Amino acid sequence: MKVTLSHIKADIGSLPGHTTVHSKVIEEVTKFVSDHSKGVIWDSQIGYVGDDVQITMVHDKGTNASEVHKLAWDAFKAGTEVAKELGLYGAGQDLLKDSFSGNIKGMGPGIAEMEITPRRSEPFIVYMMDKTEPGAFNFPIYKMFADPFNTPGLVIDQNMHNGFRFEVWDIEEAKAIMLETPNEMYDLLSLIGTKGRYVIKRVYTREDHEKLPDENVAVITTDKLSFIAGEYVGKDDPAAIVRIQSGLPASGEAMEAFSHPYLVSGWMRGSFNGPLMPVSMKDSKMIRFDGPPRVVASGFVYKDHKLTGPVDMFDDPAYDNARNLASSIADYLRRMGPFEPHRLPEEDMEYTTLPKVMEKLKGRFEHVDAVEKRKSKNSSQRDVE
Ligand code: F6R
Ligand code: MG
Ligand code: MG
Repeated sequence: MKVTLSHIKADIGSLPGHTTVHSKVIEEVTKFVSDHSKGVIWDSQIGYVGDDVQITMVHDKGTNASEVHKLAWDAFKAGTEVAKELGLYGAGQDLLKDSFSGNIKGMGPGIAEMEITPRRSEPFIVYMMDKTEPGAFNFPIYKMFADPFNTPGLVIDQNMHNGFRFEVWDIEEAKAIMLETPNEMYDLLSLIGTKGRYVIKRVYTREDHEKLPDENVAVITTDKLSFIAGEYVGKDDPAAIVRIQSGLPASGEAMEAFSHPYLVSGWMRGSFNGPLMPVSMKDSKMIRFDGPPRVVASGFVYKDHKLTGPVDMFDDPAYDNARNLASSIADYLRRMGPFEPHRLPEEDMEYTTLPKVMEKLKGRFEHVDAVEKRKSKNSSQRDVE
């Protein structure tokens, strides 16, 4: 029997700025989902990272199920009311529409869903990031499923040796392509290195996988709020579900992909490169320069309509070095202030005053040849004098 894992997330207000969720909002969302889950979902877990509330659900309604999406939407609405009462910042920010219309896609929240054939034990990890974009998952998902230096199982586990299949989306042109590793590894890398445009959406096992053929084993939210709304309205902080063990990356192989605090775009005003810091949920307050960007991980198993967990996976001193390195990288980058490559290139910034600055200075720009000519004329005049 097929089972659906649905993870839906939104920023519905935070404290004091875009820093962290409020416990009363979490309580309201938790209560709402639990009071309204009968006949819709089997089980759920509410989490958070930075200013984003995260709902993980398990059910048999398939992906894009209207009643499941509506439950999440209504829960976010209920949480927004509490955020408004408390005067939290940006209350309801990611709920772009007034009323629910069948499917939560394009309405603001981020969605990652997959229909699975559950194994005897079905372990998976939900990764949640704040102050960055969906392409921030390209690097760790590639490491988990395609890099043998991260995942020795690709070399030494017979079930992983044939590799995996990656569904990559071009989020600018709304196109998708399937690529297989290891045979198409270089093609895959040449796309997903451009992480602002080519984004890994799903990973599948290959048809010849002995334990779990042709199965969806990872899915990432790819919603781009700025494209949905046509203007900047908030962040598209991503989340992912990754199934683990038994012919898939082991829990520790999936976690190892985050041991290096690689650079992602986002951070302050969605306009800066910064290191991705792996932290426990309680440490996911976006304080320094509204960050640095962070990732939180919750580990679960699914069995008989029930989720067991979560385990707060980065609550581990073995990640202290990654966190310290991320802090040192933050110190190093911050000294560059508004200069690239700390600041993102013009076209990738969420906030920019450049068009207004250009408008103001328009009449003062001259062709460099004219400037040079005038200067040499002035100096030859001085020579005559
Ligand atoms: C970035 C983010 C924050 C805000 C910043 C300014 O993803 O959410 O860094 O961009 O705090 O926020 P506003 O414009 O709401 O004052
Ligand atoms: Mg926010
Ligand atoms: Mg956020």
